[in-house]
Amino acid sequence: MWNGGDPPAEAVAPRPIADEELHLLARYTGQSDLAALREHVLALWRRACSGSAPVYLCVRALMFLEPRVRSHLAYQRALQLMADARQAAAAATAGGAAAPAKGGLGEAAAEAATAASGASPAPPPLWIDVGAAVGTDVRQLRVDGLAFEELVALDVPDARHYWDVGLELYQDASKPPCVALFGDITDDAVLPPPAASASGTDAAVAAASAPQEDQQQQGQPGQQQEQRWGSIAELAGSAQVVSCTAVLHCLGQEQVAALLSKMTLLLRPGGLLLGSTLGAPTARPWEASYQAGHTRWLHSADSLAAALEAAGFVQVEVAPTSWRDLAQHRGAIQPLVQQHVGSGLGEDDRCMLAFTAVRPAA
Ligand SMILES: C[S@@+](CC[C@H](N)C(=O)[O-])C[C@H]1O[C@@H](n2cnc3c(N)ncnc32)[C@H](O)[C@@H]1O
Repeated sequence: MWNGGDPPAEAVAPRPIADEELHLLARYTGQSDLAALREHVLALWRRACSGSAPVYLCVRALMFLEPRVRSHLAYQRALQLMADARQAAAAATAGGAAAPAKGGLGEAAAEAATAASGASPAPPPLWIDVGAAVGTDVRQLRVDGLAFEELVALDVPDARHYWDVGLELYQDASKPPCVALFGDITDDAVLPPPAASASGTDAAVAAASAPQEDQQQQGQPGQQQEQRWGSIAELAGSAQVVSCTAVLHCLGQEQVAALLSKMTLLLRPGGLLLGSTLGAPTARPWEASYQAGHTRWLHSADSLAAALEAAGFVQVEVAPTSWRDLAQHRGAIQPLVQQHVGSGLGEDDRCMLAFTAVRPAA
C-alpha cells in the first residue's frame, strides 16, 4: 500500500511524450492523431497516479507506454515457441497428430498428439504475463499475433486499477486483449505448491475455495469469446511462456524467491521464462523513496542466476541489458529516476538485467 512521504504524484509534472512512444497505442487503437493520443495518455496518467497502490516509477515516468517485452533478446524465440505449439495443436486437433512433421515439432507435437488421441481438441498454447500492470506487453503480444485465448495477464489485487487504466488507455474495455486474473501467486492459497497440488493438502483445498476478490477475473470478453480459465490455480503447468518484466525489483529477497518458484509452476515442462529487472553490480537491499519502509532486493546477474536455479529452472541466462527503446528518452526520464530511486543508489549502483530460464522437461 501507499506509504510514501513524497509529494503527491499529481504534483510531479509528467515528462514530454515523444511521437514514437505512441506507436503501439496508435497501431492498437487505429487512431493516428498523435496530439489527441498524447492528451488521452496524460489524462489517464493522472488517474493511474491516484489509486491506493504504490505508484511505481515506471508509471510516474510514463514508461508503461513502452512494451518492454518487445526489446527482450528472447522475444522472437518466445514467439516462435508459441507458433510451434499453435501449429502442433492445430495439427493434432485436425487428426494428423500421430505423425509429427518432418523436422520435428518435437515435444509440443507429442503433447498435442496425446491430447488429441482423446476426444477433446488440443488446447491452444498459453503465454502468461506476471505483473502485467496496465497491460502494455499483452497488447504488444496481440499486435504480434497472439490470440485472446492464448494470453493471460496476472497481477496482485492491489494493482487492479492499473489494468482498468489500461482498458481506458487502449480503449478496449468492451473487447479486452485477454483474461486478467488478480491474486498473489506467492500465496500458497492462490497457487498451491506442487506437492500440495498433487496430494490435495490444505493449500490445494484453500485454493479451491479462495475468496473471489483474490482471484477475480477482469476485462472479460463478450460472449463470443471463450472463457478458458476459472482461477489462478488452474493455470499450473499450462504456459509455454511466462514473461515477467520490471517486477522482481519491486519485491523483497524472499518474495523474489517465492515468485520465481511459482513461475516455474505456471510453466509446462520445457516452457520458457523471460523477464527483465532492475539489478545491481553486487546484490543489495534497496528502499525506493516512494515506498518507504518496504525493503526491496536488487539481484546481481550472478545472484539472480543462482536464485533461478534454486527455483528449479535450467538453461538459466542472466545478462546486463538496457531498455533499448527508452534510451532516447533517457534525458527526460533520468530526473524522475533520480528523484524516486531514493538515496544511496547512484547510476553505478544499478543496472538492468534480462533473464531467460526453462522449466526442466518432465
Ligand atoms: C513496475 S510494474 C511493471 C509492470 C509491467 N510488467 C511493465 O513491464 O511495465 C510492477 C508490477 O509488478 C506487480 N507485482 C508486484 N508484486 C507482484 C507479485 N507478487 N506477483 C505478481 N505481480 C506483482 C505490480 O502490481 C506491478 O503491476
